[in-house]
Amino acid sequence: MLFGKKKPKEPRHIPTHIAIVMDGNGRWAKKRGLPRQAGHKVGAEAFRTIANYAKSIGLKYLTVYAFSTENWKRSEEEVSAIMELLEKYLREAIRDMDKNQVRFYFFGDLSRLSPELQEEAKTAMERSKKYAGVQVNFCLNYGGRAEMVRAARQFARDCLEGKCKPEDLTEERFSDLMYSAGVPDPELVIRPGGEMRTSNFLLWQSAYAEYYFTDVLWPQFGPKELDEAIDAYNKRNRRFGGAK
Ligand code: IPE
Ligand code: IPE
Ligand code: MG
Repeated sequence: MLFGKKKPKEPRHIPTHIAIVMDGNGRWAKKRGLPRQAGHKVGAEAFRTIANYAKSIGLKYLTVYAFSTENWKRSEEEVSAIMELLEKYLREAIRDMDKNQVRFYFFGDLSRLSPELQEEAKTAMERSKKYAGVQVNFCLNYGGRAEMVRAARQFARDCLEGKCKPEDLTEERFSDLMYSAGVPDPELVIRPGGEMRTSNFLLWQSAYAEYYFTDVLWPQFGPKELDEAIDAYNKRNRRFGGAK
């Protein structure tokens, strides 16, 4: 009897590395007649939930875009509210570290952040090194182009110092000069918030990533939405230029 017999569900493959553009906080708040900051606050909670869920499904790396090199264009009021939230978030993450077992890492030029925030980031990174759970790469004052320029400058400096020759530059070597050195490229990049662009996120690393866009605004993005993105990813045919 064929009817009623359910085809066993294929086990879904969890990518090693998922990257997310946490977008839509402002619109979430506006819809509710709240200040943009209120959206960032709920967005931070959404991140907490997703980081724990990512750990529970066995994800190895989760990279999140929290503040871009372009986000400084926003009002001083909004920027300082975001910075305060980040500080608060990191303080709490440091406090709850043993419970959550999440490893923290940072991509971006942190030197432009307040000394307090830099200190929190350093502490979070150092103290969480020992955990085996998911590694969260927080992108703060991060831009894909700025990251590549920084890498090119470093390589040029190494050449000038006689450590290498221009011909020594390979894709692997260039990858090792990125903030993401040692982290495998993301297989899946998710952008909630309805915009269909990368906004300068992981330009080098996402050369062959699968993109997933959804209209759901970041503060409302939860485990269900992450599952849907992973399911969509599982249906993709990744050819990498081949002819499979
Ligand atoms: C993302 O949400 C948070 C940051 C860029 C810091 P937005 O603040 O960009 O929210 P929208 O896109 O205006 O809705
Ligand atoms: C991208 O969102 C950056 C972050 C989520 C941190 P933006 O809201 O800054 O991007 P645009 O302005 O829509 O391109
Ligand atoms: Mg936005």
